[in-house]
Amino acid sequence: MPTSAPARPAATATSRMAAVNEMTRLLRLLFEVEREFVRTVPTLIYRVGEPELKYLLCQHVWESAGHARFLRERGRELTGFGTTESVRDNLRKIFNEAVGSNAANPLVVTAGFYAVLKPALLAAYRHYLKVTDPLADWPSKKLVEEFIADEERHLREITTYLQGVDAREWQLHLTQALDDLGGWLGQETRLPLAAGYVWAHAATPYAAPATCSRGKYPLCSSVFGFDPKEDPIVRPWLTDPKTDARVIRLMVYVWLMMEMDAVDYLATVFFETPEAPFDLHYDLARHLWDESRHSQFGFRQLPKLGVDLMTVEHSLDLYNILIQMPPHERYAMMTMEFEAGSFPTKAHVMDRVRELNDFEADTLLAFDRNDEQNHVRYGHRWLAEMMALFGEKRPVEEFVKATQEKFKEYAVKFGGKQPHTLPASKRLTGEKLLKLAGV
Ligand SMILES: [Fe+2]
Ligand SMILES: [Fe+2]
Repeated sequence: MPTSAPARPAATATSRMAAVNEMTRLLRLLFEVEREFVRTVPTLIYRVGEPELKYLLCQHVWESAGHARFLRERGRELTGFGTTESVRDNLRKIFNEAVGSNAANPLVVTAGFYAVLKPALLAAYRHYLKVTDPLADWPSKKLVEEFIADEERHLREITTYLQGVDAREWQLHLTQALDDLGGWLGQETRLPLAAGYVWAHAATPYAAPATCSRGKYPLCSSVFGFDPKEDPIVRPWLTDPKTDARVIRLMVYVWLMMEMDAVDYLATVFFETPEAPFDLHYDLARHLWDESRHSQFGFRQLPKLGVDLMTVEHSLDLYNILIQMPPHERYAMMTMEFEAGSFPTKAHVMDRVRELNDFEADTLLAFDRNDEQNHVRYGHRWLAEMMALFGEKRPVEEFVKATQEKFKEYAVKFGGKQPHTLPASKRLTGEKLLKLAGV
């Protein structure tokens, strides 16, 4: 006679955890959706021209990456989240569609994300809160409450940029794709797609444009040069002990503002590395947001020092050259050459600026330096993995060397193409900086 209860059928193990499994399924979907925002929203950044909008998008990408990471962390505490980080095809398809074509008005594409896909995410989070047990699933509930507040704020923050943008047709197109799923969690009634629905990205896959947009601002190829009558950052002045510290401060703010270049070209890497591990995109998102803050250091401080931003030409060379190279080469140049190589000059600049007792400038430069040290670390962490995604098998060092050489060739071929849009008399130059500094 058996003394214990007879073995139950194996299915019981699953049904015992049914309440958890269902909530984990939703968390997993939410994770995949947030991850796809991180992969695709950056395609807006180099297409929209307004710096403030670029900055805001960088911030939202970073916050979405944070949501995804917390969802993954919480999800992994629960049975059934899964060990992979892949995104299912029916979700990815909608994000690929939302990216639009590179001929599309970028503000219309932005409206697609912010008037359709993100409100649907907000609805999905609200659904999660409604169906989860507030006590049993307290940890997820607390996260989701915070994410709801973030998503509501994102929608508020974007509104000024989308005023007067007529995106009704595009929004309808994306709404239909989403209705076919019944919302991100399948929580609503499905409205199957019409037979005639055409997925635009299937016919023409998206590719980043050959140049980036800076909206209403004047343009040039590079802000670095040797001629005070032509260029705002006069290279020898940066290290010349005779240069007035106030001039150095102005030059470094122009330099920082032009980290917009890094914002624009780094933003291209996400979409072109769809199979990257999530942690890679997470660090890229942080990197992107850091660069957008560095650019803001200059963008906010220059006007306070008397500079009219409409006289500061924006440099396009780095984007224009790097976009001709594959993503792992862009990333190698960024982290192993530009960032790794910037420390000695920046250290000297910081020492000179400290003479001014300008606490704010010292603070901004110190945080910039700290961030840049992390960026080089990211490079060491991720470059080899990114190379692997593109089948690059050379040792990292050899690859970096070859890429530096390739960049030099490409700089000749694709650089220097953007003429000054302002005559020297109207644009910010070294000579004008001397006057502004009162030298
Ligand atoms: Fe930076
Ligand atoms: Fe950086």
